[in-house]
Parts: sequence; structure tokens; C-alpha cells
Amino acid sequence: MPGVVVSLNDRKSGGKEGDDATTQAGRKASIQPLVDLVQPDMERVNRMIVSRCGSEVEMIPEVARHLIDSGGKRLRPMLTLAAAAMCGYRGDHHVTLAASVEFMHTATLLHDDVVDESDRRRGKLAARMVWGNQASVLVGDFLLGQAFRMMVEAGSMHCLDVLSHAATVIAEGEVMQLGTAQNLETTQDEYMEVVRAKTAALFAAAAEVGPILAGAPKAAISAFRSYGNNLGLAFQLIDDALDYGGSSQTLGKNTGDDFREGKVTLPVLLCYRRGNDKERNFWREAIERGQNDDSRLEEAMRLMHEHNALADTLARAQQFCELAQDALAMFGDSPHKQALIEALEYSLMRAN
Ligand code: IPE
Ligand code: IPE
Ligand code: MG
Ligand code: MG
Repeated sequence: MPGVVVSLNDRKSGGKEGDDATTQAGRKASIQPLVDLVQPDMERVNRMIVSRCGSEVEMIPEVARHLIDSGGKRLRPMLTLAAAAMCGYRGDHHVTLAASVEFMHTATLLHDDVVDESDRRRGKLAARMVWGNQASVLVGDFLLGQAFRMMVEAGSMHCLDVLSHAATVIAEGEVMQLGTAQNLETTQDEYMEVVRAKTAALFAAAAEVGPILAGAPKAAISAFRSYGNNLGLAFQLIDDALDYGGSSQTLGKNTGDDFREGKVTLPVLLCYRRGNDKERNFWREAIERGQNDDSRLEEAMRLMHEHNALADTLARAQQFCELAQDALAMFGDSPHKQALIEALEYSLMRAN
């Protein structure tokens, strides 16, 4: 772990397309070792993803490919592939499940941009801005359906159970979030529960199904689940910090979306609780009453800086990454393990 807590504003992004990030201490954290290790399998996953977007209904591949061809980090399927490899899996079904995991993720993004009324995704106009909300929701449903077909193909009832359960939990998380939106009395516990459901559940499932396929012992399966869950929690905390402290250009989605939407995330909660009466009033007007023009967004960012809200969100994410690293302690040293540990560090320092 980097051992340093950096403020998001102070971080320098290094490498191209945000693949690396540089800590204040100058250490590089990169996702590249993981990318390299799973590359041959990932090529198969990408081929499968493209082939399963097909449909005679022309608009379906058009909308799906708009999002899929613009990349994305493919972090979740890489977890499936790496965990399967670490547990000695020799078959082909990890590729199918990794593709299925990415389809689930892609479907949630299509739906999420409708729910959040977001305009940009992966450096392009969000699909809903090109084809509309209705098409976005329906193509998301198509991808989810395809994801389930792939799970069935993989032939493991246990994996089907884990992934289908994750699909229901993600939906629960997004619905729970509707209840916390524009509500500054949301507790940190309630916020973390939303994060666990909407984001960490898929990371946990993605990491767990590899060892399940490999027939790994229960303890190894649980260890990977814990790794994925804690990485997922950290990942969303960083996402929420980047919505205020990141750059739209590098992120490929608009910063300030959460503010404009009145989303109650950890940076907001910390700032609200730490503020004086006048500041708390500012947050109520902005988050609960929708007074959220650009000058108010700037004021929000200033307050976050003053109250260390982003740095403390990052510190919280770092704790979850430490838990994730500890979860892998039972495994002997290997390039895959090292790459998964470096992926934690990368997730903390990432700029996109
Ligand atoms: C975005 O996930 C949604 C969140 C859970 C924050 P990613 O940041 O992994 O999105 P892509 O796939 O790389 O675009
Ligand atoms: C993402 O949460 C959760 C999903 C299940 C897609 P966000 O709403 O913060 O993700 P972005 O910022 O739109 O990618
Ligand atoms: Mg969103
Ligand atoms: Mg976000």
C-alpha cells in the first residue's frame, strides 16, 4: 500500500489514459501488471462481448457497441480471470463468466445514466443522449439477459447463484439510493450500505466466481469475495471523490453530476457534518432544494477542501483497500497476487 494519504487535488496523474497514477511519494501504481497477466484471456472475453451484442434488431448492437467500443477499464472481468488463474482453473468457463460480469456492468451503466440523468460516459455522449432513455433501458435489459445466458452456459449453479444474487443486490442499491438522494440526514452507515449494494456486490461476485469454477476450498472463495467486496467499496468512494476532485476530461464523464443531482455521497456528508450553521444551510439549499449552479459547485469544492472531505474519503477508501489486501494473505506470493494488490493501489490513485 502507498502508506501516504494524498488529497485528490494534489495527485498527479501519470501515464497515458490514466493507466497509472503517481502518489505524492512518487511511487507509480499501475493496473498494467494485471492487464498483462490476463491479456490472452481478456482477448477472448472481448471477442465474446462483441459477438454477444448481436441482434437482428438493428438498434440493439448499435447502442450496445456505442458503449462497449469506448472501452472502460474492464476491471471486474479482470478480477474473474485473475482469481480463476490464481486458484489453478484450467477450463474455459472463466472467460464466459468474465464476459457475463462485464455485460452486467454495462447494463447497469446504461440504466444508471438514465436514473442519474448523466450526459457523458466513457468520453462520449451517454447512449441515452443519442438514442434516448427508453432505448437505453431496453438495451440494458438485453445485455442483462445475455449475461444470464452466458452464466447458464458456464454450467455452474453456484456461480449462477452468486451472479444472479449480485444482479438483484445492485438493483436494491440503486433503489436504496433513491431514498438517500437529497436527504442530508442520511447516515454514513446508510450511505455505505448503498455503496456495498450498488457497486461492491458486483466486484465481490466477479472475484468469487473464479475460485468457485476452480473448485477452490471455501476459505479461498471467501477470501476472494472479501477482496472484491472491499475493493468495490474503495472503488465507489474514490468515484464519489472524483465527482468533485477529478477532471471531466480524464474521467470521461462529467464531474459535478452528483452535486447537480443532489446525491448524498461521503464527501458531502463529511462536509455537511463538519460545517458551521451557514455552511450547513448552503448544503441544504444545494442538495435538498436544488440550488446547484456552477458557482455553487465551486463553493462546494472550496468547502470540501477546507474540511478535508476528499482527503478523508480517500483515507476511508485506503482502509478498505488494506482489508482487501489482508484478505489475500492466505495465498502464497505469485505474479497474480502481486498484480491484484497493485490494482488496489491503482484504484486509490486512479484519475479515471
Ligand atoms: C463506473 O465503473 C461505475 C461505478 C461503479 C463507479 P467503472 O469506473 O469501472 O467504469 P468503466 O467500465 O471503467 O467505464
Ligand atoms: C454507479 O454509481 C453504480 C452503478 C451500479 C452503475 P455512480 O452513479 O456514482 O456511477 P457513475 O459515476 O455514474 O459512473
Ligand atoms: Mg451515475
Ligand atoms: Mg459516480
